Amino acid sequence: MFSPEGPSLRELAVQALSSVERGYDLLAPKFDHTPFRTPDAVLDAVGSALRRTGPFASGLDLCCGTGAGVGVLARVCRERVTGVDFSAGMLDVAREQVRPPGPPVSWVRADARALPFAPAFDLVVSFGAFGHFLPRELPGLFAQVRSVLRPGGCFAFPLVAPPRPGSPGYWALLGFDTVMRVRNALWRPPFVMYYRVFRLPDVQRGLEAAGFGVELQPLPEFGRRPDGSPRVRLVMARLPAPK
Ligand SMILES: C[S@@+](CC[C@H](N)C(=O)[O-])C[C@H]1O[C@@H](n2cnc3c(N)ncnc32)[C@H](O)[C@@H]1O
Repeated sequence: MFSPEGPSLRELAVQALSSVERGYDLLAPKFDHTPFRTPDAVLDAVGSALRRTGPFASGLDLCCGTGAGVGVLARVCRERVTGVDFSAGMLDVAREQVRPPGPPVSWVRADARALPFAPAFDLVVSFGAFGHFLPRELPGLFAQVRSVLRPGGCFAFPLVAPPRPGSPGYWALLGFDTVMRVRNALWRPPFVMYYRVFRLPDVQRGLEAAGFGVELQPLPEFGRRPDGSPRVRLVMARLPAPK
């Protein structure tokens, strides 16, 4: 699961017993060698879909980590690109490593639940981070995204279909979430990371309640499940355009 450059089991255990912010600070130097970084295939597929919709002026990568989504934004935004994350360690790695050609890039340390921006963005993307938010935090998170978007702005992120009940993937995610629930019942600070809480129907309802119109685009690169549904969708949540 991890390459030789990735964290040892002991390092992962120490990280998992920390807070989310501290855990990522510790993991940052080896994060890109873990499966937690969004794979390039997903980034490329989202980039292609956004290129068909864009271009955009100004983009924000929410929970940017080491900057995976910033490269996507640099390809579809013309004016500027910003990465925001609350882990100083992850931002240090991003600053060092991610210097894409294109518009100027800036890195901001902030909590996604209290974004320090005016409505200055046309596009907000996010990859691989929604499991860090409890379902009760999602209305506040979506309201924050709304507050930093200009009228007509778009919030876009990929969403992988959940594994079929009873499949090995289903048991793996259920097992992971159960271990995290036990860990969080017994240990402080909590490390919130649950794979099974960010579900399409709830997400769609939450985005609509926050004032977004939601469109779902299958990402054809990942094919379809036996029942014909897409394996991966791009959720495109748009604010009403200015009158
Ligand atoms: C699994 S990593 C994903 C990083 C990157 N987006 C990617 O796809 O490779 C999750 C990131 O979310 C950040 N994060 C989690 N909760 C956050 C919050 N409340 N505010 C800001 N960043 C947060 C973590 O620090 C971490 O960098």
